[in-house]
Amino acid sequence: MSADIVIQEVCPRDGLQIEPIVVPTDVKVALIDRLSVLGFRRIEAGSFVSQKAVPALADGDAVFRSIVRREGVVFVALIPNLRGAERALQADADEVNFVMSASETHNRVNMGMDHQGSLSALAEVTAAIGRRAVLNATLATAFGCPFEGEQHEGKVLRLIETYLRLGAQSITLADTTGMANPKLVRQRVKSVLGLVPRAQLTLHFHNTRGLGLINVMAGFEAGALRFDASLGGLGGCPFAPGASGNVCTEDLVNLCREIGLNTGLDLEGLIALSRTLPSMIGHPVPGQVARAGRACDLHSVPLGITLTD
Ligand code: COA
Ligand code: ZN
Repeated sequence: MSADIVIQEVCPRDGLQIEPIVVPTDVKVALIDRLSVLGFRRIEAGSFVSQKAVPALADGDAVFRSIVRREGVVFVALIPNLRGAERALQADADEVNFVMSASETHNRVNMGMDHQGSLSALAEVTAAIGRRAVLNATLATAFGCPFEGEQHEGKVLRLIETYLRLGAQSITLADTTGMANPKLVRQRVKSVLGLVPRAQLTLHFHNTRGLGLINVMAGFEAGALRFDASLGGLGGCPFAPGASGNVCTEDLVNLCREIGLNTGLDLEGLIALSRTLPSMIGHPVPGQVARAGRACDLHSVPLGITLTD
């Protein structure tokens, strides 16, 4: 049965990039290998950025070299520039995810470049990649920026047109610090679907203000099909004040199952894997279903209580 909604797992990249501890390479590889048997068609396995900027993901090359490549699973690498694209190709990434922010201020803080610098980099990346990998382009802070606030729709649409003109084959709209709301999501998805076919649009929400799942549902109802989510609800941009975790994968899969949407993902396997995260990173994770169990996981009545009519 084909999935009604496509969930791309981003925990190995977005989830781990903000963690204060550096997870050892073999532990990352084991995490990705366990994720790739749970039904994901797409996993963002790491990034190829400056190791001074994101020390937690400095071992991207080794991670990509060591993971088991499974038929039908696309392994994605996030990149900021040509150097990142070259490293991603060298590491045999199936898809390269170029990132720039809608907010020029956040782009300068996160990428050390203005829009022109990033767009020139994208042109170089397209030329370098050719047909050797798929090229996705993410527009971060597409629903709001922690420095600039609201991002005007006209600017977002112009930047997406530029992405497409420069060779991006698919687009991600990212809500870097959870500033979206369902009304804004519906409006923005409707406009962006005028430029990008639904099969080539991904929405990336953070749950920073508790609106992650409701934003996914608003996006789905507005026509989007592809969503990023992170195991345990880990995640966040290290260069965005107040950043916190992505929409939690197992919470989203649980929601989809409860309302009858097929994700193709193994919820029980996700919950079991999510429960291993606290020992991996040294603190509890924000996801809720792994803590509470599924709604159908009933409990026995406490000893000593007699049920009478
Ligand atoms: N992979 C590895 N190293 C890279 C790199 C890449 N893709 N791109 C640049 N570098 C190295 C440079 O060689 C340089 O190294 P050196 O100091 O040893 O000479 C160093 O990183 C700095 O690069 P520079 O070109 O001077 O630019 P910068 O300091 O302004 O950094 C970026 C620009 C884009 C490389 C950096 O801001 C970055 O990696 N940002 C990504 C942030 C991120 O991942 N955010 C979360 C995801 S959206
Ligand atoms: Zn993110």
